[in-house]
Amino acid sequence: MQLKNDLFLRAALGQPTERTPVWLMRQAGRILPEYRAVRERLSGFKELVETPELAAEVTIQPVDLLDVDAAIIFSDILVVPEAMGCTYEMIEKRGPLFPNTIKTAADVENVRVADPHEHLNYVLEAIKVTKRELNGRVPLIGFAGAPWTIFAYMVEGSGSKTFSKARKMLYTEPELSHRLLQKITDTTIAYLKAQVAAGADLIQIFDSWAGILPPAHYQEFSYRYIDQICKALTEVPVTVFAKGAFFAMADFAQLDCQVIGLDWNMNIQEARQAIGENKTLQGNLDPCALYNSFEGVKQETRKMLDAFGPHRHIANLGHGVYPDTDPEKVKCFIQTVKEYSQR
Ligand code: CP3
Repeated sequence: MQLKNDLFLRAALGQPTERTPVWLMRQAGRILPEYRAVRERLSGFKELVETPELAAEVTIQPVDLLDVDAAIIFSDILVVPEAMGCTYEMIEKRGPLFPNTIKTAADVENVRVADPHEHLNYVLEAIKVTKRELNGRVPLIGFAGAPWTIFAYMVEGSGSKTFSKARKMLYTEPELSHRLLQKITDTTIAYLKAQVAAGADLIQIFDSWAGILPPAHYQEFSYRYIDQICKALTEVPVTVFAKGAFFAMADFAQLDCQVIGLDWNMNIQEARQAIGENKTLQGNLDPCALYNSFEGVKQETRKMLDAFGPHRHIANLGHGVYPDTDPEKVKCFIQTVKEYSQR
């Protein structure tokens, strides 16, 4: 199916665009009252994730309501550990919890490399339904967590400021850590390939906990697995978003991917210099900039667009939009990108 709006795809591939494309990480859910209305009818977050028609509905909401240039499939990075045998609960207002964490060699042995068609078919179905209902309006982004970020949740058992249990394992059990990371990587590659086969037009890899590792550990326990995933995914453009990994920018230049996501701590010129001209950059407005006045949002957005320049940029925030952001400010951000970047 021919896309009616392929700005995002062209920008990812480094082709000319008439303006800068824009979308927001975590645009589905969180900020939209329309999402909460769907969510309140259900038993919980997982019912929404596991019901393809509903996942498709909330995936498309931001396309209708915010007029973004891409949709991202409504799911979670934690469906991967669940498919591998580590189930999670989503605790209201607190976040994810894994009742059984990975501690021992036997635990790692017991984790399976999941077959996406068997264990994650609900996501593949959601992608198919979404593609049909989007009817080519905008591209659909598929996604997964980076192996290190998934490892961090599987070992830690929940969100954490330090992820010290997960980081401890890298020091005390490096070989065991690699065995688990490889299983996660194998699952993720098969899963992302299945997402593409189901209709995902691009893929984003979220390494949300990249920034807590020292550079040498990042290289050994995260980067090399992301590299495997990028090499395996030859079918569609891939975005790597590694939050806090400013120290790895020169390495990212070597990845077989088309787009690098920047968080708001990263200096745009330095990142461009480290990464070179052969990749597109995505980001990186501070999510807190959207708490500003409308005039302030416009100013900050224009400053960001000036710093990236008109080529090989996909406008976004530097991380997911915060839940208490006024949707009107989000619209102001999107509108400003569209108007100011018009060429
Ligand atoms: O718009 C979208 O991007 C929707 C799809 C999406 C969700 N989670 C839905 C969700 C995506 C891409 C994610 C990714 C995700 N999930 C990441 C990586 C991105 C990032 O923010 O760093 C991470 C680390 C997770 C794990 C996770 N899921 C946490 C820590 C939490 C609780 C905090 C929170 O974000 O609310 C979730 C729950 C979650 N995932 C919600 C949504 C809409 C909120 C739950 C609800 O609606 O009840």
